[in-house]
Amino acid sequence: MKKNVLITGTSTGVGFETAILFAKNNYKVYATMRNLKKADNLKKKITEENLDIAILPLDVTKLNSIKSTVETIIEKDGKIDLLVNNAGAGFAKTTEQASEEEIRWVTEVNYHGVVFCTQVVLPYMRKQKSGQIISITSVGGLVGQPFNELYCGAKFAVEGFMEGLATYVSDAFNIKISCVEPGGIATEFMTSAIEKTAVEGQFATGEYLPIFERYMAGNQKRAGESKTSVYQTGLEVAEVILEVAKNEHPPLRIRTSQWAKDFCNLKTKADPDGTKIVQQIRASFL
Ligand SMILES: NC(=O)c1ccc[n+]([C@@H]2O[C@H](COP(=O)([O-])OP(=O)(O)OC[C@H]3O[C@@H](n4cnc5c(N)ncnc54)[C@H](OP(=O)(O)O)[C@@H]3O)[C@@H](O)[C@H]2O)c1
Repeated sequence: MKKNVLITGTSTGVGFETAILFAKNNYKVYATMRNLKKADNLKKKITEENLDIAILPLDVTKLNSIKSTVETIIEKDGKIDLLVNNAGAGFAKTTEQASEEEIRWVTEVNYHGVVFCTQVVLPYMRKQKSGQIISITSVGGLVGQPFNELYCGAKFAVEGFMEGLATYVSDAFNIKISCVEPGGIATEFMTSAIEKTAVEGQFATGEYLPIFERYMAGNQKRAGESKTSVYQTGLEVAEVILEVAKNEHPPLRIRTSQWAKDFCNLKTKADPDGTKIVQQIRASFL
């Protein structure tokens, strides 16, 4: 029987490419999205390339929606081999200027969504005594960046959550845990973030504005000077996710490009892929 995979956030970007790539690599794919009206592009690919992909509804912020879709998959296949927590949303604004609603939303989509999806699939993987959970975090899950602290905070939370899980579910239940950490990806992500948060094209106002402008000018200069490309395509990131899925012993942390590795180097030098910390915590606590 084919391995199956549940992927969240497949309407665009990395999720879309991951669904197609996994189907081409002999996975039975459950491509989920919160808004099925956005499924047309994926449906077209499925028909054109005769792909084994079922599209199902799933909003990562709604526990009932996750449970109902996971139950549908279990009724069909009796198992879930792999969960890819991909759904997420960009957000850039100073903490002072973000509303309560925005702060709750960025945390819910990027962090609680991962926790809820993981919580719902874990009992099945535990009973199967096998499974794999891959969460797409970001270099922003390792390094805090200006005007991005609320998004980074949520991605740091995912990294902590996954690290904690990795210390015991792998040994006890054979469930592999990994974070895939991209730098910039040329997807809908930035456009969505700008639409959602920017006021007249700016992520900051008042006394923050000159700092923001300095930050943007610096970004452009660094991108121009960088020897390695900052931006990857969604497909390039999907290829890394597939590599992690195929790895018998995947590490906890994988950055997806040379740029992402270089960017996080100062923070991750002592333990680039998280193997040492997981081993040390296991040895000390379990
Ligand atoms: N692009 C980057 O520069 C970048 C860098 C580092 C990490 N990442 C991470 O990579 C992952 C994929 O992002 P992407 O670049 O592919 O961006 P994207 O094209 O904007 O895709 C994000 C996906 O998440 C979905 N989503 C948002 N809220 C959701 C919810 N409540 N329930 C279910 N799905 C929801 C979106 O659905 P809708 O179409 O309905 O909104 C969309 O399918 C995210 O976790 C992101 O944080 C992105």
